[in-house]
Amino acid sequence: MTGFSIAWLKLREAADHRSRNPQLADALSARFALRDEVTVTDIGCGTGSNLRGTADLLPEVQAWRLVDYDEGLLEAARTELSAWADSAREDGGGLILQRGRRKITVSFRQADLSANLDEALGSASDLVTAAAFFDLASEAFIRKVAQVVAARRAVFYTVLTYNGIMRWQPHHPLDGAITSTFHRHQLTDKGFGVAAGPIAPMHLSDQFQMAGYSVQDGDSSWQLGQHDQALIDELQAGHAAAVAEVGEVEEGALKSWALRKLSGILIGHTDTLAMPL
Ligand SMILES: C[S@@+](CC[C@H](N)C(=O)[O-])C[C@H]1O[C@@H](n2cnc3c(N)ncnc32)[C@H](O)[C@@H]1O
Repeated sequence: MTGFSIAWLKLREAADHRSRNPQLADALSARFALRDEVTVTDIGCGTGSNLRGTADLLPEVQAWRLVDYDEGLLEAARTELSAWADSAREDGGGLILQRGRRKITVSFRQADLSANLDEALGSASDLVTAAAFFDLASEAFIRKVAQVVAARRAVFYTVLTYNGIMRWQPHHPLDGAITSTFHRHQLTDKGFGVAAGPIAPMHLSDQFQMAGYSVQDGDSSWQLGQHDQALIDELQAGHAAAVAEVGEVEEGALKSWALRKLSGILIGHTDTLAMPL
């Protein structure tokens, strides 16, 4: 398990939502604009941030299937989505939410996507989506996703995939070494085989084009500044810990890099929208 904490997912949610690429969001919205209802599967859903960030782009009646292998995160998703909605009621094992004019039914599915993706996706979805997920995945898994999504002729929309760009403010002489060592850590196995890390957006684009889809990419970088200090501090500590695990940067130098006060960070992300032709 990769073990993402509820606190970390909560801390990043506002930055994730405001950083999404607006052109791709508009294109997704336009694709379903003539529909009254839509079915959606969110893979690696965590606490449901992607549903909260995407629901406004979709028709008024939505049925979401949230998939994750972490039972604790699925429970947190249930609680956080109920709090986010104007009203929520239990329905079997799922939820029926009302938020503004939208009626959203949610079902929860605990599954390891690396073991049985086809089954985890269920039989029919108009849209398969994910957020902050695909840099954990391998090239082979991304190929498989493109194949199973294409077999369903579903639209595919994933946001906030790390793309390798990283700028720390103020600049420090160790920044380049931190970035390249962090990328080595990113390429380690996160449960899907060797992770694609910063080249995941490229694989997503290639694999969906090969599956016969029209693909659009858009920038969704985090541009973090004075109002994001808690997130900046957490990123600095998280990157230092990942770099320490790799063990290639001298300990004293890494400590001084990790202890200095940062005023901003740019972390590059890419959104990908792929539509069947
Ligand atoms: C960075 S978090 C993103 C969560 C959420 N999409 C968001 O935007 O807040 C990655 C998520 O993928 C899930 N995950 C990672 N590997 C998985 C696997 N093999 N099967 C199912 N879920 C997985 C984690 O449990 C975690 O919830």
